[in-house]
Amino acid sequence: MDNDLQNKLRSFSIHVFQDDLINWYLTEKRDLPWRKDQDPYKVWVSEIMLQQTRVDTVIPYFTSFIEKFPTIEALADANEEEVLKAWEGLGYYSRVRNLQSAVKEVKESYGGVVPNSPHEISKLKGVGPYTKGAILSIAYNIPEPAVDGNVMRVLSRILSIWEDIAKPKTRKTFEDVTYELISRDDPSSFNQALMELGALICTPTSPSCLLCPVREHCTAFEEGVQAELPIKSKKKKPKPLQMAAAVLHDSDGNLYIHKRPSTGLLANLWEHPNFEIVATTGKTYREQLADYLQTEYEAKVVLSELAGTVEHIFSHLIWNISIFIAEVKNSPNENLVAVSPEELSKFAFPVSHQKIYQIYKGQNKA
Ligand code: ADE
Repeated sequence: MDNDLQNKLRSFSIHVFQDDLINWYLTEKRDLPWRKDQDPYKVWVSEIMLQQTRVDTVIPYFTSFIEKFPTIEALADANEEEVLKAWEGLGYYSRVRNLQSAVKEVKESYGGVVPNSPHEISKLKGVGPYTKGAILSIAYNIPEPAVDGNVMRVLSRILSIWEDIAKPKTRKTFEDVTYELISRDDPSSFNQALMELGALICTPTSPSCLLCPVREHCTAFEEGVQAELPIKSKKKKPKPLQMAAAVLHDSDGNLYIHKRPSTGLLANLWEHPNFEIVATTGKTYREQLADYLQTEYEAKVVLSELAGTVEHIFSHLIWNISIFIAEVKNSPNENLVAVSPEELSKFAFPVSHQKIYQIYKGQNKA
């Protein structure tokens, strides 16, 4: 931490700040399903879901996930297909694959109890510095910082910190600051209060400073620069990829689907056969798709004209997918699995491939 920041902290009324923040939180906090108790497993699941995903989206997923897998034991013993299915649509699927391996580790090495030591908990798969601090503070009342983008925004304004929050090393500054500020009496409420303030009051654009319980402690408000903070440099633009996909079916209406590899993007999810278009061949998308289905799956097909398009935006990629309906005339190889339309709902698909299937269903109705 630089000298300037150390000086600011020296003249900061830490205890009054803690009281103002925590008292506000205790009266104003939202009634969220993961706040019903301090079960470390539920705190863990909620914090993993809340990474990159909005609270409103997470609520129904959290509730049904906990119904299906109410304990560490239940999640450790569940089959992976079922776990992926429960996460279907939430995105960033490696989160849940890591969560399940970590929970297995907790079952096997820690007797099913989430460890409460910073060192042990951070060895678990998918538990980075944020998740570690969130579980230790919220569930175990241990004064550890839990710094995510929201907390950096709030603290950058309160203490007028002009470091770029998009840079990985900036997190350390905010962890050091939080370590100085965190309440030793109620670390759980303190960290959740910072998150809640970021969600409800100290929002990215047009913060509601007039309603803010810690406005009197806020340097950015005092100087009128709250709209200029935090400093956040822009990420690279996602790279567009042109793809073609086939909803492959036989004359009885069975569908032929493919399981993605166990590593990389959307690992182990199911998909309709698809590939990335090569721009230089001189062949149409439709012709390239027919060739691909033949070479990859030994499938001889009759292809429709273009049935629709689907766009899906990832953090680093954009898929532009042209969709064709394909009737298969032989038996494709074992890299595809045949399923009836009724069985299809048991398999976890990425949202883009759910949309692809909807295009096929729409055409069948017409
Ligand atoms: N964002 C991240 N963690 C959260 C929590 N526990 N409650 C509400 N929003 C959050």
